Amino acid sequence: MEILIGLSDKLNNLMRGKNELRLLDLMAGILIGISPIIHLIIVKKVNVPYGRFSSSNWGFLINVRVAWFLQEIPALTIPLYTLFTSPTDITPASFILIGLFIFHYAHRTLIYPFKIRGGKPTPISIAVLACIFCTYNGYMQSMFLLHHSNYSMDWIYQPNFIIGICLFAWGMKTNMICDSILRNLRKPGETGYKIPKGDMFEYVSCGNLFGETVEWLGFAIASWSLQAAAFAVFALLYLSARSYTNHQWYIKKFEDYPKDRKIFIPYLI
Ligand SMILES: NC(=O)c1ccc[n+]([C@@H]2O[C@H](COP(=O)([O-])OP(=O)(O)OC[C@H]3O[C@@H](n4cnc5c(N)ncnc54)[C@H](OP(=O)(O)O)[C@@H]3O)[C@@H](O)[C@H]2O)c1
Repeated sequence: MEILIGLSDKLNNLMRGKNELRLLDLMAGILIGISPIIHLIIVKKVNVPYGRFSSSNWGFLINVRVAWFLQEIPALTIPLYTLFTSPTDITPASFILIGLFIFHYAHRTLIYPFKIRGGKPTPISIAVLACIFCTYNGYMQSMFLLHHSNYSMDWIYQPNFIIGICLFAWGMKTNMICDSILRNLRKPGETGYKIPKGDMFEYVSCGNLFGETVEWLGFAIASWSLQAAAFAVFALLYLSARSYTNHQWYIKKFEDYPKDRKIFIPYLI
């Protein structure tokens, strides 16, 4: 009898595990499916109304620092909670990947918002949408990496892992340097805009967004999972669309805007 109960428990766990993995695959598929739609809407119809395009037509406005902190925090707390409540047999690859995800969102939640200089307030609807996205993606990446990934012990020595981690590091460094260039364009108390110069801004209009895209492409290459690929596709399509609208805005605003500066990809687009 006990053997039968044990077997049934094992079967239940297996089914729950399989169903959860199916859910994570479905979530990744949905994100991949809606990303091109979001891209087209931004490029053809609506500037996402935060920062330079902020507008009270999208709900009451909240302080930009509060918005960034509250909207990004699920992408920090969900992986931390999952990590501390997971079984202890986490492979080195899963541990490094979830560590990098947590590192990125610790910076984005706890450091980035408090360094912003003169940022425009954010409409509540945009902060809520960003919060939903961070919850969705935080859950998807954490559950995959900590409950369902199946990396071998030597995955961290595979070429795709090493190349992916190098791209992630370069992307995050570039993102931070470019965010810092933008911040330093303003003296304390200023809220206006200037033409950014230096680092990736010599090549593209939004060096910070380009850096962030490379970061998540690297993460996807190192992880080689549908879930990480979905986030990379979203980052590529959302951030390239945002870069397009920013680029058009720069050209209209500054007559002396550098003519050879590309929208998103150095030398190409
Ligand atoms: N992973 C993702 O899906 C995702 C999505 C969105 C953002 N992010 C990341 O979040 C960070 C911020 O994104 P964002 O869209 O807010 O970037 P952004 O439009 O480049 O703005 C960043 C900050 O710099 C200021 N700024 C921008 N251009 C300026 C200029 N020409 N002169 C002076 N100040 C300028 C902005 O002030 P104002 O508020 O006054 O415009 C804002 O405080 C980036 O690192 C980005 O990669 C990630």
